[in-house]
Amino acid sequence: MTPVLSIQHASLVYPNGNGGLLALDNLSFDVAPGEFVCVIGPSGCGKSSMLKLFSGLRRPTEGQIIFEGEPLVHPRRRIGVVFQKANLMPWRTVLQNITLPLELERVPGEAAMSRARELVELVGLAGFENARPRDLSGGMEQRVAIARALVHRPDVLLLDEPFGSLDALTRERMHLELLRIWDRYRKTVIMVTHSISEAILLADRVIVLTARPGRLRADLPIRLPRPRTLEQVFTPEFGALVTQVRAAIE
Ligand SMILES: Nc1ncnc2c1ncn2[C@@H]1O[C@H](COP(=O)(O)OP(=O)(O)OP(=O)(O)O)[C@@H](O)[C@H]1O
Ligand SMILES: [Mg+2]
Repeated sequence: MTPVLSIQHASLVYPNGNGGLLALDNLSFDVAPGEFVCVIGPSGCGKSSMLKLFSGLRRPTEGQIIFEGEPLVHPRRRIGVVFQKANLMPWRTVLQNITLPLELERVPGEAAMSRARELVELVGLAGFENARPRDLSGGMEQRVAIARALVHRPDVLLLDEPFGSLDALTRERMHLELLRIWDRYRKTVIMVTHSISEAILLADRVIVLTARPGRLRADLPIRLPRPRTLEQVFTPEFGALVTQVRAAIE
């Protein structure tokens, strides 16, 4: 199958007045349409930098990103991004935060609102349409951010540790929510995480990066049956995968 996204021999150097800081080094892998890929690696290894390349917000110093056969040179509406922090507008309601990207493109208010209501439903926030971010929990804020990223019906969803700040129970609920959304729309997902079990529970494939500069350390298929459930975490198959991913990281 033709990949929807590929990173090809990408290196990224940040200027630092001292010859530059090499964040990513000759990184290459392909992502198939509908695939759920998790990327894991030590702190500072370049995961967020890699996601910025996939979002088109930044260009690699060498190499390229290919999106549907064409070099990706700027952000695209069909690639939605959720960063580690929800970054909601505090003065806007849930609905208004979700419609923001549509407003910026002058989509008529009615159409934008009906789309936002659909998404509120999808991410399980019905009843909170008019709440402001200060009245939401961390998990609810992240749901709004996910809804906002879905507003353009993107084909690809990029997630940068979206559940990093959530407590363990909320995180588990969000995993199930994300799997439900993915199951329904089969978007391509690239998600950065620090959590080995999160990566295995969600992904079709786990990409392991080395410490900085980020290079491809391992590319492990996760062949656990779907739909995934939290109970799978306790199976021997899951345990074996944890050991395998941990070995690749260390
Ligand atoms: N805008 C920037 N300008 C200069 N250096 C940067 C910039 N963004 C990141 N870096 C550097 O690039 C390296 C990789 O950073 P990055 O944020 O991609 O890592 P990460 O794997 O996402 O880390 P974490 O797991 O802690 O989020 C780090 O050494 C960081 O200091
Ligand atoms: Mg990061």
